Amino acid sequence: MLVVEHIRKHFNGKLVLQDISFDLEPGKIMCIIGQSGHGKSVILKNIMGLMIPDGGRIMYNNEVISSPTMHERDYGKVRRKFGMLFQGAALFDSMTVGENIAFPLREHFHLPEDEINKIITDGLEMVGLHGVEKLMPAELSGGMRSRVGLARAVSMKPEVMLYDEPTSALDPIMSDKINDLILELREKLNMTSIVVTHDMSSAYKIADKIAMIFEGKIIFSGTPAEIRASRNPYIQQFIRGQRKLYYAVEGEEESAGTFDIGRLKAEPGRKFRMPARGSDSVQDPEDPHRAMPSE
Ligand SMILES: Nc1ncnc2c1ncn2[C@@H]1O[C@H](COP(=O)(O)OP(=O)(O)OP(=O)(O)O)[C@@H](O)[C@H]1O
Ligand SMILES: [Mg+2]
Repeated sequence: MLVVEHIRKHFNGKLVLQDISFDLEPGKIMCIIGQSGHGKSVILKNIMGLMIPDGGRIMYNNEVISSPTMHERDYGKVRRKFGMLFQGAALFDSMTVGENIAFPLREHFHLPEDEINKIITDGLEMVGLHGVEKLMPAELSGGMRSRVGLARAVSMKPEVMLYDEPTSALDPIMSDKINDLILELREKLNMTSIVVTHDMSSAYKIADKIAMIFEGKIIFSGTPAEIRASRNPYIQQFIRGQRKLYYAVEGEEESAGTFDIGRLKAEPGRKFRMPARGSDSVQDPEDPHRAMPSE
C-alpha cells in the first residue's frame, strides 16, 4: 500500500505542493487531474524519489521511501519497484529505441543479452510498435516516442507505475489502447498505477479514484461517478472542458453568474447549484441522461 502523507515542496520560495495526502491500495488506479502548473508532475517525481520533499513522508508497504531526512543513496531500491512514464517520454536522444528500453534493465539487473533483446521486442509489441529497435528517438513521431517511453517503464515490471500524461500525444484510438494496457497490467500483474491526465474520457474509463489538484492541494478525491456528481462549479467546468459555466450559489440566489476558469478560486466547502435541465441546457456527451449548461 502506498501512503502519501502531508507532502510539501517549494522551489525558490514558491510553495508548489502545499499539503498532499492520499493512499492507494495495491492494484488500484488513481488519476490525478488539474490545471497546468499546479503540481501534478512534481507529485509523481516526489513519489519516484527524483525530488526530495520539504515536508511530509511517503510510505510503501509500511516503509518510508521518501522524506526530507532520507539520504540520496536509499532511493535506489525504491526506484526498482516503481516505474515512471515521463511527460514527453524523456528518451535519451543519443541512444536507439532498443538501448533506451534496455537502459534501466542494464542499470538494475544483470541479464543475458538475448533476454534483454526479448524484453525489448515484447515491450514494443505491447505498445503496438514493430521493427523500431534500431531507430533513434528523433526519427519517431511524438506518439511513438511516448509509447517507447511506456515500453521502457513497464519492461521492469514495477509494482507501482506512475504515468505522466500517457495519452497526451496520441490519437483517440491509440489513447484507448494505452487505457486498455494500463487496465491489463492491473489484471495480469496487479500493478498499482497513478495516472496524471488531462484526458477525462481516459480517467472515467480507468480510474478507481480521481484526485483533483488545485494550487498544490487536493480539492477533490472520489470515484468517477462522484466527481461527475460534484456540485463545485470549478470541478464541473474542468471536467466538462467549458471555459464558462453558469452557476448559482445556494442560499444566495442573487449571486448566480458565470465562471471563468483560471480566475476562479476553488472553494470546496461552498454549495453551488447547477442550472436544471431545460431550454438552457445541452446534453452531456459523457452521460446523455445528464444536462449540461450551455454558454
Ligand atoms: N525543478 C523545478 N525547479 C523549479 N520549479 C519547478 C521545478 N519543477 C516544477 N517547478 C514548478 O512547479 C510548478 C508545478 O509544476 P508541475 O510540472 O508539477 O506542473 P503540472 O501540474 O505537471 O503542469 P502540466 O499540466 O503543464 O504538466 C510550476 O510552477 C513549475 O514551474
Ligand atoms: Mg506535468
